[in-house]
Amino acid sequence: MKKFLPVNVPKIFPNEKKLVNKALQSNWISSNGPYVKKFENNFSKYNNKKFGIAVSNGTAALEIALKCLNLKKNSEIIIPSFSIISTALAVIKNNLKPILVDVDLNTWNMSVDETLKKISNKTKAIIITHIYGLPVDLDKIIKIAKKKRIIIIEDAAEVIGLKYKKKICGSFGDLSTFSFYANKHITTGEGGMICTNNKKYYEKCISLRNLSFSKSYFDRFNHDDIGWNYRLTNLQAALGCGQLKNIKWIIKRKREIGDLYYNKLKNNKKIILQTNKTDYANNIYWVFGVVLKKNTGLSRNKIMKKLLKFNIDTRPFFLTMNKQKIFTKLKLFKNLKMPNSEYISNNGFYLPSGLGIKNKEIDYVVKTLLKTLD
Ligand SMILES: Cc1ncc(COP(=O)(O)O)c(C=O)c1O
Repeated sequence: MKKFLPVNVPKIFPNEKKLVNKALQSNWISSNGPYVKKFENNFSKYNNKKFGIAVSNGTAALEIALKCLNLKKNSEIIIPSFSIISTALAVIKNNLKPILVDVDLNTWNMSVDETLKKISNKTKAIIITHIYGLPVDLDKIIKIAKKKRIIIIEDAAEVIGLKYKKKICGSFGDLSTFSFYANKHITTGEGGMICTNNKKYYEKCISLRNLSFSKSYFDRFNHDDIGWNYRLTNLQAALGCGQLKNIKWIIKRKREIGDLYYNKLKNNKKIILQTNKTDYANNIYWVFGVVLKKNTGLSRNKIMKKLLKFNIDTRPFFLTMNKQKIFTKLKLFKNLKMPNSEYISNNGFYLPSGLGIKNKEIDYVVKTLLKTLD
């Protein structure tokens, strides 16, 4: 194929362009425009939550969600070892202590048993991150967290629109966080959201995302806290409002893309795929990942390089937190082993799986991949 196939091509619909133009024409170009509130209302309602706080990205959402809890320094926060670094960064930047949990090899999600084992009397919150389109099996963790008064932050960045047993992911956390980066199920280019039913958290998050300006008209520049400028613009929110209207189509197409790859690759003996269906959810395929099996003698980087020669872009999996060079330098997670996370980190990569991909391009990726695996 002559055309380069990027790992993600987003899809922007005509109704979305219209809304962005409307926002432009209204002159509300920064965060003080009506689409921000509208997007917050529509998105929080979609996720079955009372309040939404739109922010500049999913990393910001995690930082603010943790900060609004006002936890004592070094409180323990349980997080998955296999995820984007944003989770661990949010914990560290808030002067809290990250406690890592290894993944399950079938789902690539944090292991439920391991999560429960890591709970101590210093645990104040668990960040549950749903990975690559499949949710964590939530029931047990949530039940025990409730009993022990541990707060759940649900990171639903990779599963917007997915249901866990008939209920929407993102509706389970005391606070839920989302990202609207260009490769997410819905996008605002860059962007994020926190959703909650708790008014106190809501008000604190609203303040923190906007430099904690004083609410007093005359005392505006006398700030209440160490906040951030993590605002989302009205232009981005207009795009988000439009995308949300197309969410049904988006989910359907994402599943089609995932199922096409899955059915063509599932019988290959040299690779492992993320589970397609469990008794609690059907994969929504944020990205389509492939992990090379042990003892195949195949090198992940060599396969990625070969695919690139055939104009197919891929990405390595997230690097497990216990192997991050910056955390080693900071002497965090010293001697900690996360065998499953390390294994999928070193042997996993994902294929072009954005909404803009065509079926014949998927066929080409599959054929080329199978050739390179031989
Ligand atoms: C699970 C998860 N959480 C948070 C983020 C961070 O989002 P952002 O890139 O918008 O900061 C990502 C980004 O990929 C993610 O996958």
